[in-house]
Amino acid sequence: MTSVDLTGPGSSGRFFETSNGPDPQPSTKRPEDGRPEDLIPDLTCTREVVRNFAMSAPAAAEAGMAVAAAMKEVMARVKQASERSGRLPTQVRVVAVSKTKPASLIKAVYDSTGHRSFGENYVQELLEKAPQLPDDIEWHFIGNLQSNKVKQLLSGVPNLYMVESVDDEKIANHLDRAVGSLGRKPLKVLVQVNTSGEESKFGVEPSGCVELAKHVKLGCPNLVFSGLMTIGMLDYSSTPENFKTLLDCRKKVCAELGLAEEECELSMGMSADFEQAIEMGSTNVRIGSTIFGAREYPKKNNID
Ligand SMILES: Cc1ncc(COP(=O)(O)O)c(C=O)c1O
Repeated sequence: MTSVDLTGPGSSGRFFETSNGPDPQPSTKRPEDGRPEDLIPDLTCTREVVRNFAMSAPAAAEAGMAVAAAMKEVMARVKQASERSGRLPTQVRVVAVSKTKPASLIKAVYDSTGHRSFGENYVQELLEKAPQLPDDIEWHFIGNLQSNKVKQLLSGVPNLYMVESVDDEKIANHLDRAVGSLGRKPLKVLVQVNTSGEESKFGVEPSGCVELAKHVKLGCPNLVFSGLMTIGMLDYSSTPENFKTLLDCRKKVCAELGLAEEECELSMGMSADFEQAIEMGSTNVRIGSTIFGAREYPKKNNID
């Protein structure tokens, strides 16, 4: 199916085209600990999103119907792929990635399809949207998490369900301490693995995933090690090597930690490849543009 185009008026400034796969990861370094900094400041990004979607009531209603229809179509495709993989559709979670999209569109999907799992990449954007939306939404944080934003994320989003992007011990320790100090219930986390070897991607090397999973499981009492996540190469279509690598990582992690494979989720598959990922055993697919349309970003010089 084709993606719906939900571009709002005034959104001419295209920062980069991202209709197919996640956004290019920035390579600039953050001074304090060397983790790459997000390219787009969270707050300015969402301000622009709000401006872009200041549409008329009929246009907003139409946009809401379009995303709800796209969501239903995605769920039908997920059902078929699950059946092809010998599983029930309830065994595959769909995270609707709503990054850069306004709360009104998320609410449209929530209301008309009953969907409850949504994903965001930026802390500030999630902090703005979560309070505007029902608290039975299960939020997945899927972006690169900076340690100085951990407390804000946990305290501002009580219905944060999972952090899918733990990629080193330092961020795991920050999350663990923050969950403990806020008295939250233990937080589910996935270890992000860089299966494509691309420098631009976050994630621990496949060779380091067992060590990191072990650290989370044994050294972070306030975190629940729940599995592995990967993004994978954007443009491969016939040889899903990166998904195979994640399956291999799961084998090693389960053997080392004495877990059954069902206790170790696989978060893999996005708009371009979610059916293939499900057929290979994914339990969690993260789908953005096929549901919400291409993401829109402000031009750098538009940021005020
Ligand atoms: C980690 C991650 N997963 C999934 C997605 C959704 O990608 P797509 O729009 O191709 O479905 C994104 C988008 O930014 C992402 O960053």
